[in-house]
Amino acid sequence: MRVLVTGGNAGIGYFVAEQLASAGADVVLGSRDPAKAAAAIASIRSYVSGAKVRHVQLDLADLKSLADLDTGQLGAVVCNAGVMVDRRQETVDGHELMFGTNHLGHFALVAHLMPVLTPDARIVTTGSFAAKSASLDFADLQSERDYHPKRAYERSKLAQMLFALELDRRLRAAGSSRLSVLAHPGGALDSLTPSRPRVHVRTAGQWLRGLPARAVLHGKDGGARLAVRAVLGPDVAGGQLWGPRVFGLRGRPRLETRWANLTEEPSAARLWAESVRLTGLDPLG
Ligand SMILES: NC(=O)c1ccc[n+]([C@@H]2O[C@H](COP(=O)([O-])OP(=O)(O)OC[C@H]3O[C@@H](n4cnc5c(N)ncnc54)[C@H](OP(=O)(O)O)[C@@H]3O)[C@@H](O)[C@H]2O)c1
Repeated sequence: MRVLVTGGNAGIGYFVAEQLASAGADVVLGSRDPAKAAAAIASIRSYVSGAKVRHVQLDLADLKSLADLDTGQLGAVVCNAGVMVDRRQETVDGHELMFGTNHLGHFALVAHLMPVLTPDARIVTTGSFAAKSASLDFADLQSERDYHPKRAYERSKLAQMLFALELDRRLRAAGSSRLSVLAHPGGALDSLTPSRPRVHVRTAGQWLRGLPARAVLHGKDGGARLAVRAVLGPDVAGGQLWGPRVFGLRGRPRLETRWANLTEEPSAARLWAESVRLTGLDPLG
């Protein structure tokens, strides 16, 4: 199976790519930086003998870069890349950076990929526990009037999660056998992540300082398992939410009940319409 992993050059996405390659998948790293992608590919090849992995260049903050990607047919896409910033910035297209990258970028990417997804493909979206208590403000979706970085990040992740669920509802309504699935990684720290020298180095000091956090959090390799489960699990169904077993923050994947704010179907439908307007694309149009 061929899988595109956005942000596969670093962090959780790197380990999603490495673990999928290790399971025999043909992995395509969707990354904006060719040098970082090359380093990640070399690293994956050094840990997984015979790994099938390559790079396509894309920048989720530049919607035109998402068209006509040379991925070939895809059995899955993992919408993993994410950005978190502390001052208001905008994408190339003039959207607030976190909403524009995390949500609109993946919305547009999925729209462009529809023709190359196999009939039973899985679209896996990386959510966040940070979105659990968030709510969207449709009067100020892009925080133009009132910007708080943490809130804008939480809203961007909620938007991604509502999109994933709305996509699944629309796929079902259209009689499609493609699945849209949510996976959230819990809390994944670099200090708890094993070194991959070409990509990420954990010093002994970081490892020591990170030890107390191991009780409740895990590394990015642990956070990656959720998306990998959602891509490969034979028992996975569309519209599911997978999260880590221990406090929803660390550990092996388990199925979670949808959070209250994820059950707001009218908000999800309204967000879909707004996203079509803002990107000029409709994944199922
Ligand atoms: N870490 C956690 O505890 C945690 C918790 C909940 C949810 N998450 C979610 O998990 C995902 C991965 O997080 P992480 O901790 O692995 O983050 P990370 O280490 O900062 O990696 C983020 C990845 O996203 C890529 N990216 C950012 N902007 C991009 C753009 N415009 N176009 C293409 N790629 C872009 C980065 O590429 P560059 O290297 O080029 O910047 C990088 O590969 C995110 O969606 C995040 O919201 C993480």
